[in-house]
Parts: sequence; structure tokens; C-alpha cells
Amino acid sequence: MKLIKEISKEGKNKFDIEDDLDFFEPEPLPKEFLQDKVNIPDISEIELIRHFISLSKENYGVDNGFYPLGSCTMKYNPKINEDIAKKEEFKYFHPLISIENSQGLMKIMWEMQEFLKEITGMDAFTLQPAAGAHGEYTGLRVMWEYFNDKKEKRNKVILPDSSHGTNPASSSMLGLEVVEIESKEGMVDPDKLKEVVDEKTFALMLTNPNTLGFFEKDILKIKEILKNKGALLYYDGANLNGFIGIARPGDMGFDAVHLNLHKTFSTPHGGGGPGSGPVGVKEFLKDYLPYPIIENSDEFFYFSKPSKSIGKVLSFFGNILVILKAYLYIRELGFDGLKEVSQIAVLNANYIKEKLKKYYPSQFDRLVKHECVLSGKIYKEFGVKTLDISKRIMDYGFHPPTIYFPHIVDEALMIEPTETENKETLDSFIEAMIKISEEIKNNPEIIKNAPNSTKIQRPDEVKANKELKVKW
Ligand SMILES: Cc1ncc(COP(=O)(O)O)c(C=O)c1O
Repeated sequence: MKLIKEISKEGKNKFDIEDDLDFFEPEPLPKEFLQDKVNIPDISEIELIRHFISLSKENYGVDNGFYPLGSCTMKYNPKINEDIAKKEEFKYFHPLISIENSQGLMKIMWEMQEFLKEITGMDAFTLQPAAGAHGEYTGLRVMWEYFNDKKEKRNKVILPDSSHGTNPASSSMLGLEVVEIESKEGMVDPDKLKEVVDEKTFALMLTNPNTLGFFEKDILKIKEILKNKGALLYYDGANLNGFIGIARPGDMGFDAVHLNLHKTFSTPHGGGGPGSGPVGVKEFLKDYLPYPIIENSDEFFYFSKPSKSIGKVLSFFGNILVILKAYLYIRELGFDGLKEVSQIAVLNANYIKEKLKKYYPSQFDRLVKHECVLSGKIYKEFGVKTLDISKRIMDYGFHPPTIYFPHIVDEALMIEPTETENKETLDSFIEAMIKISEEIKNNPEIIKNAPNSTKIQRPDEVKANKELKVKW
């Protein structure tokens, strides 16, 4: 497909701003801002529309198909939330409007803090962080300030070998040392944990259900091991879809959590944003939260700054429209509805696992929560890798699952169907995966050359990342 610059040809755009808007006489701009020729494509309106509509058709998203990308919770985002967030009252809301004139939105933010406290079992929330990783950094920074206050020098963060890459990244950004512990049967092994936890331990970061989809059954023992040495427990809430409304990290003993509103609470995400990663903490960490926190006094809502606040982590109040869409989602479903979300997500993940485990067996086979991790290992003997399988699934009209993560599963295929998919969709995905397993044995070339149905087959992803070109 041609780039818009390539379609551009001088004189194609017949619309002349100067002539058409002769009634409008703007103040002349200072000379330094003026250019003789603006370097924008010269293209007619219809060509412009066709160009962007065609481009949008090349895209694959939740709105045009099944998107079982594990660890990403790519659920359907109800359009009513988009419509409401697009309303002028919200869209044109200026963050510097006075508090007296912002009471409606302030109330929404305050209620959101309350909902998240109730959902997670934490005592206080900040809505500021803009993503999960940003939430991790904020939560750890809050904990760091707490230890600093206590004059305790702790620098060791413990991570299970199944942890998400952002966990070591945010720890390293704070200058903390990362210690990885080996999992036992896909879960944290309390005996191994005991060996590494000491007075230098800052925290253990854990997602529960973990990235294999397993509930960390020893979570209370884990908490005790850390507590005995004065260390804290951090909850990576990206996998909350696995037990929202059923269990709460606060009750399991977690001291700080972040949530990914753009996953569990159904706001569109992908491609780098926008997101929202609120952070919740237990009472003893409350004073360190970033500001502003929204308070309520007799139904008058105002901002406050916690006494030992780490400062601001984002301009103004956070990604308000993302928070708003998540708020609407919670209000629409209610707490019972949220519970049902998890129940169906868990049912769907187990359904896929049971149907496919014979064809893509992994070393772990246990009841999962919201996602399951299978493996393409047995197909190595045909010269086929998981990467090839994931490319072939595109020919069947599906987005590929996450691959090669978590690292502890060889040739991992991480599938998260979410609750928004029905049985027909799951069945057609299962059928395609089974067909692929047969193709591998009978016609491996078709798999190795896949995808055969897309314009671009196998881009060099490393090159694209390392030599990113976003302009020409
Ligand atoms: C388990 C887990 N933790 C943390 C993150 C980071 O979240 P974000 O992408 O919003 O920064 C993700 C994202 O995929 C995740 O799956």
C-alpha cells in the first residue's frame, strides 16, 4: 500500500484556505513561525478518506476478531463507555477549572478510589499512574520512601521466574537489586523463598493468578515469610481478571497493588496507550502516595496532598477519560457483574486448555484462572516453532496468542480468551489450532511460510524496534 506522501501530487487538493476564508483575518504570526511552503501531502478529500479507511482495514483489533493475547486481557470495550467519554462535558473539561466547578468529575474520581478500595481490599488509592509499569514504579517508590523514613536500607527485590518483564524493569529503575527465584510446579516455592529473604529484602513482587494462570496457593505462607523479615509484598494487578469480585489482594496480605484499568476494567489499549494504572496501599503507606488524592467532606470533593507524598507522577489528575470509562464499566456491571466476569473468564480459559492440551501439551497441567499456557514443543521435530504456529493462526483469522512467555515453558503459547468471547468463537479458535497441529505433520511448509493471507509476511521485528522510523 502506498504512503500518503506517495499519493500526493501538487494541485490535487483544490481547497484553498486563503481564498475560502477571506472573511477571516488572523493576526499575522511572528516571522520565525512562517514557512514559504508547508510540507503536507497535496491530496483530495476523497483520496484522503480512502487512504485512511484502507489503512484501518489492515488493522486487527478486538472489534474485528478474537484476540487471545495472554497477559493482556484484550476484552471487548463496550461502546457506550466511549460515547459517554466523548461527551463535550468530559472532552472539553479543562484541568485548571476551579474545584467548585469540577464537583461532578471530582465525585466520579472519589467514587472510583472507593470502588477500587472495595475491589482490592486496600485502604487508599491514587489514580495518577498512566499504565501498569508506571503503577509498579509508583508503588515501589512509595514503599522505598517508607523504608527510607524508617532508616532501613533494603535493596533486594525478589521475583519469581514467571514474572512479567516490567517487574524487573521498574525495580531496576529504582536502583534495586533483582533476585529471581525458581518456581516449583509453576508457583512460588515457599522453601526457596525462605532461602533468599533476609533483612536486606525490600519486597516480593507477585502477580496472582500468576503468568501461568495459576493461583498462588501458598500466598499466606509467602506473606508470613516476608513479614518475618520486615519485607513488603507488592501485587502486580495486571491479572485481576482472574478473580475480580471473588478474592482480594488486600485480604491476602499484599501491602501495595497496581491495577491495569485498561485491561480488567475494559478500556481500549494496545500500541502504547492510553492506559491507567492506579496504585492502592495499606494504611501504613498512605502518607507517601502521590498527590492529588480526592477527599470528600459532606459531599464536597477536594484535593489533598498526603503528608509525606512522593510528589506527582503525572500532570494533573491522571488519564481522566480512561478512568472515566473504567468507572462506567464498574457502574454498569456492579459488584455481582464483576464477579461473573471472572467466572466466565476462568471458564473460557479452562475450556480452551482442556480442548487443546492434547495437541499442545505443556509440562504444567492444572486448573487455571483467566489464562492458560500451552506449548508447541512437540512440533520441534517437524522443524516448526511456536512462532510459526502463531503466524499460521493469522491465516485462520485470529490474532495470535502471546508466545515465548512465561520463559519457564518451552515454546510457550499463552492464551487468554477473556469473558467477552462466546462458545462459537472459542470453538472455531480451537478447531483452527487442531487443524494447525495436523498441518504441521502433513504440510509443515505451509506453517513455516505463514502468514499467507496478509500483505506482509514476516517483518524483521528486531530491526523495526531498533531502527524505528516514524517519519520520512
Ligand atoms: C503481568 C503484567 N504486569 C505488568 C504489565 C504492565 O502493564 P502496562 O503494559 O500497562 O505497563 C503487564 C502488561 O502486559 C502484565 O501483563
